[in-house]
Amino acid sequence: MQILEGHRHSLEKAIKRLDSSFFYYDLDGLKDHLIDLSSIMREDPDILLWYACKANPMSAVLKVFRNCGFGIDVASKGEIDQVLRAGINPKNMLSTGPSKSRKYLREILEEEIEIVVLESLNQAYWLDDIAKSFNKKPKVLLRVQMEWEDGVSVLGGNEITPFGEDEATWLSMDRSQTTNLDILGLHVFQWGNILETDRLEKIWRKIAEDSLTLCQKMGIEPQVLDLGGGIGIPYSNEESAVDFKDILTILKKIKNDFGWQKIWMELGRYAVGPYGHYLTQVIDKKTVRGKDLLILDGGVNHIVRPAITGQPFPVELLRKSQAETQKFQIHGPLCTALDNLGTLDLPKDTAPGDWLCFHQCGAYGFTEAMPFFLCHNLPAEVIMYEGNLMIPRTPRKAEDWLV
Ligand SMILES: Cc1ncc(COP(=O)(O)O)c(C=O)c1O
Repeated sequence: MQILEGHRHSLEKAIKRLDSSFFYYDLDGLKDHLIDLSSIMREDPDILLWYACKANPMSAVLKVFRNCGFGIDVASKGEIDQVLRAGINPKNMLSTGPSKSRKYLREILEEEIEIVVLESLNQAYWLDDIAKSFNKKPKVLLRVQMEWEDGVSVLGGNEITPFGEDEATWLSMDRSQTTNLDILGLHVFQWGNILETDRLEKIWRKIAEDSLTLCQKMGIEPQVLDLGGGIGIPYSNEESAVDFKDILTILKKIKNDFGWQKIWMELGRYAVGPYGHYLTQVIDKKTVRGKDLLILDGGVNHIVRPAITGQPFPVELLRKSQAETQKFQIHGPLCTALDNLGTLDLPKDTAPGDWLCFHQCGAYGFTEAMPFFLCHNLPAEVIMYEGNLMIPRTPRKAEDWLV
């Protein structure tokens, strides 16, 4: 993974202006990607893609999705407010998330959000009650947590998680208490960041089959099956990107084989991940007990994912260097050994003052981090759109947010 030559000059300009770590989003690249996805999707209007904005809720990013015709999945009041502020019609919004209180469900209805994914029996009964008082019949999906043979995933895999209810619990739902809900189908999503299309197909076939059986047992017409996200992006040069045409072929086959009317997905990582980069400066270089280390201005205070998953973001030295590469153990500035961005290849002459560019940081970057620990600057956010470099967020110093 390499910086596109067309971006190097803009990155250098942003560094000069900011002199502090920042995220850089290539919104022209994102727009082209979404236009490509939309043209692939035109082949089957019964397969629909939403954008899971938890991956990157920046307003400029949301507006590109809006302008490319994508609906948005929101998972908190903060996301709802942000998405509405970005001019997205609530008719194009879907609400997921395990922590929905009565108050929040009322807000969802007041904002007229089109689809609510119910993640518990309580949510179903509470929403029904609120819907009755509003004289509304909201469209809902029931989120199911299935049992799998084994395996772990960022989304839980076979582990017990807070997402949805198991099949037995949904079967026990008292339907006399849900007459004000329009149940369109089911939502199942437990496997994240998968690059192998045959593995995705295997997972989705089981979901489609077991969900159909559950619908039949519950007497629900199988209108919509929402498979969530889960399509991976390459985080190393040994991995390669998924072709969405292959995904569409699989989804079409599954829809027809099992008789689902519509299949939905809400994508995060695959939609936006490759279009973000994180830039930070090398502060120090040392060798500790035989290991070569680089200490950076920013680390898990700005991009926490490597510490959570053990999988580093690919890195590149911004300056061109002819030197051979070697492995460096790369750390951020926090006083915890958790602040480790991985052991990665960089030119031997990488030195304090150099800038590093981490790739694939467009999803689960800025908002997933732990920005306040140690009171370093919060990262800036820079966008490139229609060839223009813009800086919607400058770096924030601790004095801007500490009291
Ligand atoms: C309900 C739901 N849908 C979609 C996504 C997006 O997943 P991904 O980034 O794997 O596409 C998430 C991510 O956590 C999610 O919780």
